[in-house]
Amino acid sequence: MADLQPHVVMLPFPVQGHVKPMLMLAEVLCHAGFRISFVNTDHIHDIILGNIDKSSFLSQFPGFCFLSIPDGLSPEHPRDISSIIELFTSINSTGKIMFRDLIISLLRQEDLDDKETWQAPCCIIADGIMSLAIDVGVELEIPVITFRTYSATCTWVYFHLQKLIEQREIPVLEGNEDIDGLVTCIPELEKVLRRRDLPSICKCEIDHPTLKFFLEQTSKMKKASGLILNTFEDLEAPIIRQLHSIYSKVYTIGPLQALLKSQLAGSPPIAAPATGNLRQEDRTCIAWLDRQPAKSVIYVSFGSVVVMSRDQILEFWHGLINSGKPFLWVIRPDLVFGDGPNGLPEEIMCPTNERGYVVSWAPQVEVLAHCAVGGFLTHSGWNSTLESITVGLPMICWPLIVDQKVNSRCVSDIWRVGLDMKDSCDRSTVEKMVRVLMENQDEEIAKSTTKFANLAQKSVMEGGSSFCNISKLIEDIRSIQS
Ligand code: UDX
Repeated sequence: MADLQPHVVMLPFPVQGHVKPMLMLAEVLCHAGFRISFVNTDHIHDIILGNIDKSSFLSQFPGFCFLSIPDGLSPEHPRDISSIIELFTSINSTGKIMFRDLIISLLRQEDLDDKETWQAPCCIIADGIMSLAIDVGVELEIPVITFRTYSATCTWVYFHLQKLIEQREIPVLEGNEDIDGLVTCIPELEKVLRRRDLPSICKCEIDHPTLKFFLEQTSKMKKASGLILNTFEDLEAPIIRQLHSIYSKVYTIGPLQALLKSQLAGSPPIAAPATGNLRQEDRTCIAWLDRQPAKSVIYVSFGSVVVMSRDQILEFWHGLINSGKPFLWVIRPDLVFGDGPNGLPEEIMCPTNERGYVVSWAPQVEVLAHCAVGGFLTHSGWNSTLESITVGLPMICWPLIVDQKVNSRCVSDIWRVGLDMKDSCDRSTVEKMVRVLMENQDEEIAKSTTKFANLAQKSVMEGGSSFCNISKLIEDIRSIQS
């Protein structure tokens, strides 16, 4: 009989910034010989499978199986930031029932293609805000490991939401004159985190459904048998130590992009890796970058969910033009509320502009590593932040929502790998920040970016902290199996 390998069910939260790291972890585990049932919502499932060469990917990873469940929303319902609370709610009701049924059928081995080599799942790895998996895991007696796709620091802040309410730090009010005052009730962050830097959820009134949702998620997350984070020891050591007060097992395995690369080194190249990209990349920007001088271009991207006004876009545009630096800018069709990019002046959208190049979606990881790119103007999503740190690229942060304001504070005041431009984007500020960054006016930033890039690479190499932690995770899952 063929050797039986551990079978793990993986459940991401269905948006770009959460699916991508989960998929990278799945590929690492699959490479280690695990069987993976990767469960997307139907909506994300169709997009992902449309974006990869499924047959060559699956032939590379024969232990990989994509499954899907409904998210409970009608097909035409928007699944963007404006309706995120509906998505949370419906997944945790309808999605939960479907996920439970799916796990039951996998436990009975009904949905397994090849019963010779696949066996019932031994554990679930679920996104930290998919607590439905914890409920199902408790009921069906199957261990759940939670994967919070934010930084350790932001994860730690979310664990203090209740304390922040008790200390009346929530709601953070716009125009509050104490907005620059320090928040002193979160250990390790007493001297650095200001009210201004708290996650956007902290602006909610205490009875707001979104705040209640996150309070419930973080409380259920604590019942998981371990915590996985896409970060590395040398970046967030003091906070990781604090998280050990909640979990006996904390697996920091980032940067996942680099870990995946190092784990697959020496294996035959994957014909069609699943990048987790939910949009089509415009690769023409690489040819444009190839024509630019080394370290001359500032790359501008606000991730996959942030939306901004036409006026804000114009301020960025003038700031970039006035800085005199060439730029590569990702303007998604849904980035601008109102008219969308159609309402923007032709000069902004014109892709052949000599001073800049605009695409609707870039091959970001490749762009960040391109020798022509010298800086990154970012919304401070965690994936973007970590991808930038990994290649030693300094950042200008313009955070808006969820975890981004915490990340940007860490970038500017803890790790010193960039500048924080939060809460303002007038053209003169943009121009000034771009000049400071691109002309290397801040020596400390140059030193720190190199230092952390080296530490990030070291962490995923043999003997490094993330390398050891992924081995530990693999070993722990194997021990559940046996
Ligand atoms: C969301 C939240 O906004 C973010 O704050 C949270 O940390 C994760 O979930 P998103 O806005 O998409 O994520 O930002 P980010 O985490 O940076 O992830 C974006 C991903 O898309 C990155 O991996 C990036 O490489 C990729 N990307 C982005 C592209 O491949 N091309 C692009 O043009 C833009």
